[in-house]
Amino acid sequence: MKTIENISRMTTFVKMMKKEGRSIGLVPTMGCLHEGHMSLVRAAKKHTDVVVMSIFVNPIQFGPKEDFEKYPRDLKRDEELARDAGVDVIFYPSLKDMYPEGYATYVTIEALTKNLCGGSRPGHFSGVATVVTKLFNIVKPNIAYFGQKDMQQALMIKKMAADLNMDLEVKIMPTVRGKGGLAMSSRNMYLSETESKDAVILHQSLKQAESLIKGQERDAKKIIKTIEDMIKSKPTAKIDYVAIVDTKELRDVKTISGEIMIALAVFFGNTRLIDNITIAVK
Ligand code: PAJ
Repeated sequence: MKTIENISRMTTFVKMMKKEGRSIGLVPTMGCLHEGHMSLVRAAKKHTDVVVMSIFVNPIQFGPKEDFEKYPRDLKRDEELARDAGVDVIFYPSLKDMYPEGYATYVTIEALTKNLCGGSRPGHFSGVATVVTKLFNIVKPNIAYFGQKDMQQALMIKKMAADLNMDLEVKIMPTVRGKGGLAMSSRNMYLSETESKDAVILHQSLKQAESLIKGQERDAKKIIKTIEDMIKSKPTAKIDYVAIVDTKELRDVKTISGEIMIALAVFFGNTRLIDNITIAVK
C-alpha cells in the first residue's frame, strides 16, 4: 500500500493507472477508520482494480462551533486498518495543497440540501460537495463509494455527479452497525459510557417506527412522536431533528407512501449523531 501526500504525485499515479487501463475505485473519508469505512473498501475491491482511499479532514464542511479542531486524527492507525482491508493507495493531501491561499471556488447543490442536516448545518453540504468534486477531479475514479449512514450526503453527491456530467458512478452502500445497532461513526469515540448506552435508542426507535409502518400506521406525525418519545426517555439525549421524507426530493411527508426515509440527528452530550432507515411501502 502506498501513501500519497500531495496532489501532483496523486495525479501522476492516476495517469499511470489510466494508461495501464486499470479502473479506479475511490472511498472518500475523513479518517478515524471503522468498519463502516471498511465495508466501502470491500465493495470497491470487488468492482475496481485499484482502490484509493482519501483521508482528509475537510475544514470547509465544519461550522464555526463544530469539531474540526478536535476531530480524531491518527494516520498510523488508519494506515494499518486500510492496509488490512486491501486499500492500494491512501491519498492524504495537506490543507495547503487542497485550499491554497486565495482559494475561492465552491460547489452548491440547490436540491436535497435544505432539509434535515442542511437545516441544522448551514454551509455543510456545500463544503462536502466542494471537497468531493476536488477529489473526483484529482483521483478520476470510475466508481466512488458512499455510505447510507449519511444518506442525504450520498444522494446529494449522486445528484451533483449527474447534474455536472461527472464521468463516474456513485454507489451507496448499507449502514454498518455495532453493538446494540448503533451506527458506526468516527464521532462515537467522543461518547461517554452512559452516552454510548443511551445512543442505541436511535436504532431502536427507527426499528419501532418500521414496525409501526409494517402494522399499517401511515401518519408521519404519529410515527415521529413515537420516535421522539423514545429518544426523550434517555437523559443524555437532545433531539436536533426527527423527520420522515420521500427519498427523491427529501421533502417532509404527511402520509407514508412510496419509498420514504426516516432520518434523525440527536445530540448525546456535545456529540451529534445521525442515523436513518429507508422503507418502501406499496
Ligand atoms: P466520513 O464521516 O469519514 O465518512 C466517509 C464515508 O464512510 C461516507 O461515505 C460515510 O457515509 C461512510 N460511513 C460512515 N459511517 C458508516 C457506516 N456506519 N456504515 C456505512 N458507511 C459509513 O462522510 C465523510 O467522511 C465526509 O463528509 C466526506 C464524504 C469524506 C467529505 O469530506
